[in-house]
Amino acid sequence: MAPTDIRIVQLEQPLDYEGDTKWLQDGTHAVYTAYYQGVYGNTDPVRDAIDDVITFNDQNDNIRRWWCAVSGPDGDPASVVAVIKCDLNMQDQKLVDISLVVHPEWRRRGIGTMLLHFAEEHPDLVGRDVLINWEGAFNAAIDAGEQIQAPTGQGSAPANTPGLQFALANGYTFEQVERMSLCSLPVAPDTLERFIAGSQPQTLGYRTMVWDDCVPAEYLDGYAVLMTKIYTDAPKGDLRFEEEVWDADRVRRDQEAAKAKGWRRLIAVAQHEATGELAAMTLLAWKPDKPTFGHQEETVVLAAHRGHRLGMLIKALNLQALAEANPRCERLYTWNAEENDFMLSINVALGYRPYGGNCVVQKLR
Ligand SMILES: CC(C)(COP(=O)(O)OP(=O)(O)OC[C@H]1O[C@@H](n2cnc3c(N)ncnc32)[C@H](O)[C@@H]1OP(=O)(O)O)[C@@H](O)C(=O)NCCC(=O)NCCS
Repeated sequence: MAPTDIRIVQLEQPLDYEGDTKWLQDGTHAVYTAYYQGVYGNTDPVRDAIDDVITFNDQNDNIRRWWCAVSGPDGDPASVVAVIKCDLNMQDQKLVDISLVVHPEWRRRGIGTMLLHFAEEHPDLVGRDVLINWEGAFNAAIDAGEQIQAPTGQGSAPANTPGLQFALANGYTFEQVERMSLCSLPVAPDTLERFIAGSQPQTLGYRTMVWDDCVPAEYLDGYAVLMTKIYTDAPKGDLRFEEEVWDADRVRRDQEAAKAKGWRRLIAVAQHEATGELAAMTLLAWKPDKPTFGHQEETVVLAAHRGHRLGMLIKALNLQALAEANPRCERLYTWNAEENDFMLSINVALGYRPYGGNCVVQKLR
């Protein structure tokens, strides 16, 4: 049973970063910071509170139901002891993406169970029967003990991963392991040159471009096609989410949100010269006020254009561009499904090393 003085507070739209609810936003940020600090010993993966505010206020593609579990006086960020964020996809009307974190000092008191049950039974989630929880991080370097194999056949998670045990206790099934990898920069310039030159014979007939922050207007539609493929073309085990169609407007909104959050981006693409089709994209992002690390985000090559070493080519070009745009960057993080052999082999060749992992769990109801 959760402590009886806990109350559940819903975040209301629009959030104002400097407004009355700032303590809830700062408290949420503190919970996620303690979570990542506890698992990895660093807070690079934590998104700033302002990022959360902007994400929450954009409810074009997801209805966001985010709740805090609060113990203590209103107005004090330290009163926020746990958070559950439920994103109700507007296209895939069966799906709820969940992120649930209990502050490490408040665990094993039933608070996680209380918040999860509250959310699952909330009227806004009625009719949504695919619940996917994306938290469940573990540190591969520390947790080398007993492992539980992912049902995909590739990757495993330490049996003592709190998120996994909690999920199993709450009727979720373990579906997939995401590998978190770290690349220490700089990658030697001649290594990048070698990969770029090595891809040349196969990439004849493709033109590459690297864009700062934004996709030029004439490429927005083609880029939206690439973004649509990202979630369905990457291996997803038995996770039951559906295709999510992007259009030019959504690409623009996504860019504006990244800019408002203070992210800089580099986008490398390959265009098929004969047809003009955008065949591949990859995106790197960092914040200039935290220049020592960044994230390797989406990468996709359209199925018809695979096998030409385009993935390696655009990733190497983007790393070259990053070395120029942000030479202070020392650490790049990325997440991939453990069974995504093609992507992982490119990353490993470029110097990414396993750093941690994440258990993805699902409940079908
Ligand atoms: C997972 C998490 C949300 C659990 O929160 P919590 O408030 O500690 O969970 P509860 O106290 O409600 O635990 C309910 C049951 O889950 C299981 N469980 C939870 N944490 C566990 C752990 N560390 N080891 C083994 N079992 C665990 C137990 O069966 C527990 O019941 P018990 O305490 O009576 O044995 C919390 O550890 C956390 O925030 N972890 C990091 C983020 C994350 O993994 N999110 C959830 C992903 S599904």
